[in-house]
Amino acid sequence: MRKRVTKAIFPVAGLGTRFLPATKSVPKEIMTLVDRPLVQYAIDEARAAGIKEFIFITSRGKSALEDYFDNAPQLEAELRRKGKEDLLEILKSTNMDSGEIAYMRQHKPLGLGHAVWCARRFIANEPFAVILPDDVIAAEKPCLQQMVEAFDETGGNMVAAMDVPEAATKSYGILDIKEDMGRIVSTKGMVEKPAPGSAPSNLAVIGRYILTPTVLQKLNRKQAGAGGEIQLTDAIDAARADGEEVYGYRFQGQRFDCGSKAGFLQATVAFALARDDLRDDLWNYITDMVHADKAAQ
Ligand code: UTP
Repeated sequence: MRKRVTKAIFPVAGLGTRFLPATKSVPKEIMTLVDRPLVQYAIDEARAAGIKEFIFITSRGKSALEDYFDNAPQLEAELRRKGKEDLLEILKSTNMDSGEIAYMRQHKPLGLGHAVWCARRFIANEPFAVILPDDVIAAEKPCLQQMVEAFDETGGNMVAAMDVPEAATKSYGILDIKEDMGRIVSTKGMVEKPAPGSAPSNLAVIGRYILTPTVLQKLNRKQAGAGGEIQLTDAIDAARADGEEVYGYRFQGQRFDCGSKAGFLQATVAFALARDDLRDDLWNYITDMVHADKAAQ
């Protein structure tokens, strides 16, 4: 019987420089898509996949994130007093139970691989998930849940994968495909941010992973890779070179790169248009703008 995936690591220690000056004081993961911070989408996705322990890798200046997951007794009492039961329910749904969430600091931003390694003492001999909250995925069945179901069949290591245009491969970890089985591919390598023209395929890794403890052992080497950072993809590939399987999983859904301004704005529009209370107003506004723009041409 395969071990269940019940722990997820959320690396949120990056500097978020693409959102300066906002990220001078607001952690990127607290920025809101419509009315929920990015991190709430990540937590909801993890819960749907059966995750019971949530491990955050944080850094200096991220205390707003810890506050967000705390109970807010004063606010709750005030909403109760005013009879705002609907808002009270929303608020309560964001509370975390004591002991189900842990925080560990990454003292230097040495890279995603290093951030994951910082969580090593929370992980025993079991598979674990890694979720990057700035990759937001709109999907009928949440992405990590799709992956956990596939992982139940395959075991090994699994990374969420997405076909990207050739010109974009230099921005991602790219899979070297052994066998393409459609939704699942087996791999014979992966390269972090390959130089233009040298990518082994167009299949890019995005921010959802199910990994074995071997990957943490490989991270012990603290070897810097692309961009001088300790890369998670290098450690996963080292586990593969040692004989473990690494699968790419082509998830169903739309991924938004909320670590970039354009991606964040697109996600904001998409998530707002999906909301009954916002769709009509926003849609009218967008169509008015398009008509005005056409008229001006
Ligand atoms: P990014 O490459 O998006 O970096 O990290 P960043 O610092 O968040 O943002 P920019 O590029 O400066 O705008 C991808 C993920 O890895 C985490 C980030 O928090 C993000 O979730 N990360 C990155 C760490 O936790 N530690 C690191 O040292 C680097």
